[in-house]
Amino acid sequence: MLEEVLMGMSQEQKSLPSKYFYDKKGSELFDRITDLKEYYPTRTEVQILMENIDSFHEYLGDHIVLIEPGSGSSTKTRILLDRLVGIEAYVPIDISSEYLHKVAKDLQDEYPEIEIRPLSADYIHPFDLPEDLPPGRPIVFFPGSTIGNFSPETVREFLEVVYDLIGKEGGFLIGVDLKKDREILLAAYNDSEGVTAEFNKNILRHINRLLGTDFKPDSYEHEAIWNEEESRIEMHLISKTDQQVCVNDRRYTIRKGESIHTENSHKYSLQQFKKMVEPWFGVKKVWTDDEQLFSIQYLEPRS
Ligand code: TRP
Repeated sequence: MLEEVLMGMSQEQKSLPSKYFYDKKGSELFDRITDLKEYYPTRTEVQILMENIDSFHEYLGDHIVLIEPGSGSSTKTRILLDRLVGIEAYVPIDISSEYLHKVAKDLQDEYPEIEIRPLSADYIHPFDLPEDLPPGRPIVFFPGSTIGNFSPETVREFLEVVYDLIGKEGGFLIGVDLKKDREILLAAYNDSEGVTAEFNKNILRHINRLLGTDFKPDSYEHEAIWNEEESRIEMHLISKTDQQVCVNDRRYTIRKGESIHTENSHKYSLQQFKKMVEPWFGVKKVWTDDEQLFSIQYLEPRS
């Protein structure tokens, strides 16, 4: 972790690893983001999931082993576990083993007819499925447009991992946020109540606690910008003054107006997404909302 932070802070464009958004406070703030009127992705994705269960069944088939990389609290998955027929087993995958096993135990109590088989892994790297799973088509479920937060290299690694994992007969159900009016996008990442700003700054508090660094969260301003060329929202923290931060025994100077880049959130046209996955997958079906804000897409491996 120290290495990663040192690396990020040593670059011309300073950056911090976005996975450190999510300590307890960060997760709470993100939950509040998902309730904001401006933040359309979560609510729209949930609506698409709820409205298309019968159609999912048609594409996914009668016997499914549902696999979810980065399952967290499995909130969206419950929509499928509650309504989609044919789920024989559910394999939630998360790096945080303790939380994973707690969620898995609760799920097993709630869904006695589905085999819950948690797997603790860093899903960006190849891993094996648990042994003795009940028979069924392996279907990877990856909601939240998390793929949009990956760098292009990580996207390729991840698609390769999923491709190898599910085999020729498998399927891939993925949430993909769509390109849209820049006003809508900017508002979603810059809400009027300032919850998003607090969330962005919380990464500094979390890193201070984990590494004993002395970032001063209140001396930064949250900024979200739309980068048209890369088709992404970029999150930055802009320093309000010339200042320094100690990371271990190194000191970094941050100039007034200089930014620390915290996350990217790529938005795709249907065409862009199709092209990106093309070396590994064909897009078989796209479900979206009336305003084409968000999509759930069903992919199959190309033979
Ligand atoms: N993964 C979320 C997204 O891309 C994270 C997020 C939402 C975020 N709002 C933010 C990250 C504001 C930094 C700042 O939508």
